[in-house]
Amino acid sequence: MTRSLIMDKPDDRNRLDAMAQGVIGQPLDRPDGPAKVTGVAPYAAEYSIANRAEGVLVTATISAGEVTDIDEQSVLSMPGVIAVISDQRMTARAAQGGAGKAPVQQVRHVQYYGQPIAVVIAETFEQARDAAKHLKVSYRAGDAITDHHDPDIPTDPYQDPIDQGDLAHAMKQAAHAVDVTYTTECHNSAPMEPHASIAEWDGKTLTLHSSLQMLAFNRKELADSLNLELEQVRLVSPYVGGGFGSKLGISPEGVAASVAAMQLNRPVRVVMLRQQVFQCVMRRSETVQRLRLAADAEGRLIGFGHEARVSNLPEEKFGEPVTQASEFLYPGENRRLAIEIARINLVTAGSVRAPGEAVGMQALEAAMDELANAIGIDPVELRLRNIPERHPSEDIPYSSRKLIECLKIGAERFGWDGADRRPRKRREGEWWIGTGMANACRVHNINEAQARVSLLADGTAVVASDMTDIGTGTYAVLGQIAGEMLGLDSTDVLVQLGDTTFPPGSGSGGSWGAASTGSAVFEACEAIREHLAEQLGTTEAELTLKDGFAIAGNRRVALPDLLNGSAIERNGHFKPGDITKAYAAAMYGAFFAEVAVNAYTGETRMRRFSGAFGLGRVLNRKTATSQCMGGMVWGIGSALTEELTFDARDGHIVNPDLAEYHIPVNLDVPHLDVVLVEERDPAASPLQAKGVGELGICGAAGAICNAIYHACGVRVRSFPMTPDKLL
Ligand code: MOS
Repeated sequence: MTRSLIMDKPDDRNRLDAMAQGVIGQPLDRPDGPAKVTGVAPYAAEYSIANRAEGVLVTATISAGEVTDIDEQSVLSMPGVIAVISDQRMTARAAQGGAGKAPVQQVRHVQYYGQPIAVVIAETFEQARDAAKHLKVSYRAGDAITDHHDPDIPTDPYQDPIDQGDLAHAMKQAAHAVDVTYTTECHNSAPMEPHASIAEWDGKTLTLHSSLQMLAFNRKELADSLNLELEQVRLVSPYVGGGFGSKLGISPEGVAASVAAMQLNRPVRVVMLRQQVFQCVMRRSETVQRLRLAADAEGRLIGFGHEARVSNLPEEKFGEPVTQASEFLYPGENRRLAIEIARINLVTAGSVRAPGEAVGMQALEAAMDELANAIGIDPVELRLRNIPERHPSEDIPYSSRKLIECLKIGAERFGWDGADRRPRKRREGEWWIGTGMANACRVHNINEAQARVSLLADGTAVVASDMTDIGTGTYAVLGQIAGEMLGLDSTDVLVQLGDTTFPPGSGSGGSWGAASTGSAVFEACEAIREHLAEQLGTTEAELTLKDGFAIAGNRRVALPDLLNGSAIERNGHFKPGDITKAYAAAMYGAFFAEVAVNAYTGETRMRRFSGAFGLGRVLNRKTATSQCMGGMVWGIGSALTEELTFDARDGHIVNPDLAEYHIPVNLDVPHLDVVLVEERDPAASPLQAKGVGELGICGAAGAICNAIYHACGVRVRSFPMTPDKLL
């Protein structure tokens, strides 16, 4: 039996607070943790499957043109080599979006250096890798644009720009104005687990063990690529070693393994080399962002402009949505927000953790600091003076917004002193010391999801969904929701994820996972509660479930007795309805950073970093805090070190590995102080929870930029702020 909920209006029931179990929000450990740290949890490449062949992708060494010949004979006599496959069904791009359709492309039509063009299958990985290296490929090279820094590349508009009032006029009328351009470089998701797949084909059904974020969607993509019916495809992905957007879509190694397994009637494993993960999955686009901020004498924005240039391959639909939070974070009746896409021949640009706000907010918040300095007011005060009543373009209300609280609580915990914002005032030995702050903001996303909850005859429960846990804590959180609703300890709830034989969950992405699939679990539990109330001869409203007992009035019955030998199973189906259009729903917060900048080398060291965040209901204080910390660590990387470096001649990535693509390591990260500001958002989800996974990065690098300026007086408008830019 399925119980559906379409959310069209705010859900004020506050059901979770009314429950008695007290597990929701608790900082419980992840149940999957021990299996992961002891190596027992199988990741995609780790299933031992008999008679498995190994595949290695072959990637293009030109940046545009045609593959004219793949000389299979050049490698077929090498030891262990079984086949060379270059099939039109092979997905050469890890694209995303598009209603589960595989991206349309020609595998032999090359659009970027590193594009997969074939897979070599052999008995062992080493044999396949060797043959892939020796495979003779002929090309007819075409024209390519590979210098993404060239300002003259033609662009297309992305979405309709927002144009209101007269921004140019507002800039002239303003008491204070800044007109500045910031740039950010390309980023890579760099998940710890590389993209990997093992395909098995039994003549009717394809089973793919893979590392993916969105199984229900990926299943459609794969079926579409291979011309199979949906029922013929099963995806298995119970553990995922990080995705950050790079596993939102089916990736080339998964399609290659599938095509090979079907052709050879043998299980085939394809694991991407680390360099391939960098070179042929996806990048976050670089951005060029012009910010125009016009303020009146009191520092209230009367004009607001945010225009960005991003890039992608020809015909790709995705554009880094740089201005996403700018649409509603700040007021200003004269507005212009616009994004244009330069068409270039570099690896596909796609979603990387917090697409849009991750880079948009860091530039915006640095520009806001410039405005505060121009006016001569505390940057916290500038933020407080610029909180709109309603969405400035759509005239809809905000759902919930703890921005003021985050600014105040964050400032107090950090010991923010907004009194003297003049730079170069504090020196310790050879280090300039400075502080900076920024707002955090990220749109709230929510998606359709289904989950099945079974209350077993012994009084324990099982939750099942094809939802994924990409390291975010899904196993823990879904167990807590079911535990709270059914009056069980979360240890009495078994959560099963990551298999398309389970009901389709929301998948993980865009910070929507916990609130979306959690809402499906919540609905299923509501249905079970109704059934139990009936069994007990009461109403659901009168029913209390606690510690394995059903309680109503003076009656208290253990669940196994009430169930009387039979299990109850209910499906929950959650759909976001009109509510998503009726409110501007977003997560808010504030960052406070202290840095030391070396006066001689230009090196920046983080000294302190705090964040206060309002995320709706916190489902698990530990996993939510960890997500915020992870985001802030990304913010440090974005601020100081992360940059994909392309060779402008052919677009190959010069630093395609974790040695040369510099993400922060432990010594680069100071103690991170995260405070979660309690909030309920009845318009965000039936759980009153919003998203958590991405907010911690959105604006973080701006706070660091502002702290660097305060420390040493250098305003760096080009991220990452490497030492050379400070000297
Ligand atoms: Mo996210 S970048 O939508 O996984």
